[in-house]
Amino acid sequence: MPNPATIVPVYGNYHGYYSKRPSVNDPRLALLPRTLFYGRRVLDVGCNEGWVTCEIAQRLRAKRVIGVDVDDTLVRLAWKHRRFVWSQQGPPHEDDQAEAHGHSSRPSASRKRRRSSQSVDNGPMSGTPDYFPAACEHMFGPLPIPDTTGHEGASDTFPHNVTFRTADWVNTPIPDDAERYHVVLAFSVSKWMHLNGGDEGIMTFFRRVYEVLEPGGIFVLEPQEWDTYAKARRMDPRLKENAKHLKLRPDDFGRLLQDIGFGPATHLGSPGEGGFKRPVDLYTKIR
Ligand SMILES: C[S@@+](CC[C@H](N)C(=O)[O-])C[C@H]1O[C@@H](n2cnc3c(N)ncnc32)[C@H](O)[C@@H]1O
Repeated sequence: MPNPATIVPVYGNYHGYYSKRPSVNDPRLALLPRTLFYGRRVLDVGCNEGWVTCEIAQRLRAKRVIGVDVDDTLVRLAWKHRRFVWSQQGPPHEDDQAEAHGHSSRPSASRKRRRSSQSVDNGPMSGTPDYFPAACEHMFGPLPIPDTTGHEGASDTFPHNVTFRTADWVNTPIPDDAERYHVVLAFSVSKWMHLNGGDEGIMTFFRRVYEVLEPGGIFVLEPQEWDTYAKARRMDPRLKENAKHLKLRPDDFGRLLQDIGFGPATHLGSPGEGGFKRPVDLYTKIR
């Protein structure tokens, strides 16, 4: 197997990417409407080691999240991260279990308190994120993932609600696409698709997103700015050659998405620091 440290990350397939970004409560997710993912089917394109994907599945309570990445080593690390996040998760609170089994008609005061302290209500039978310290997993190994048999609704809760796939999603559909998604997320990946596939590649990506979204579905795009392409071009002769033929610019993406059938962009802001300060835009499939 090639050493990940020595391969040129021509797809932006950086290893150790999340050691440079905030580990939990990603500020890009914090910008989005609070219940955007709640109970929804979500595709996270370019999921890398799956940190954002797991946050959507666990804290933001998506019904199902698929993380797809072109780099199989990263996808393996994403599965590992899911197990790590699960190992830190606390058990469902007794009050929540009683509520889930119909023994309590009203949420308890402690549950209400916990609800207000979390970004989205974790719901009955969902454990508390970050309950056990990371050291437990390091010392004793990851916790086994329980079977869902006989636990109604368990397959819609973390960690069962998250799956990772290896694919170049611009050019290769995955089985989950057939059921369509309510939300598709593309954080910091458009530059790599653009440089690898050219103008046609980025247009294919946008059309694919449109096709796999439900009517009224949401596309969340965090495009990298044009001036950041220069550094990526220098990484590899093929990217450099491809870049010479690019006519489209990230500033054109909003107009192109509208031509395809999305509404105008809602600009949510540019969180992050330094080179990671990028706009996060939301588009709705309107026709
Ligand atoms: C810079 S990282 C961003 C990771 C993550 N989306 C985030 O912002 O936290 C870009 C990721 O997109 C993946 N990627 C690039 N092109 C892709 C493609 N065509 N299909 C699937 N994944 C792709 C890379 O392997 C890499 O992990």
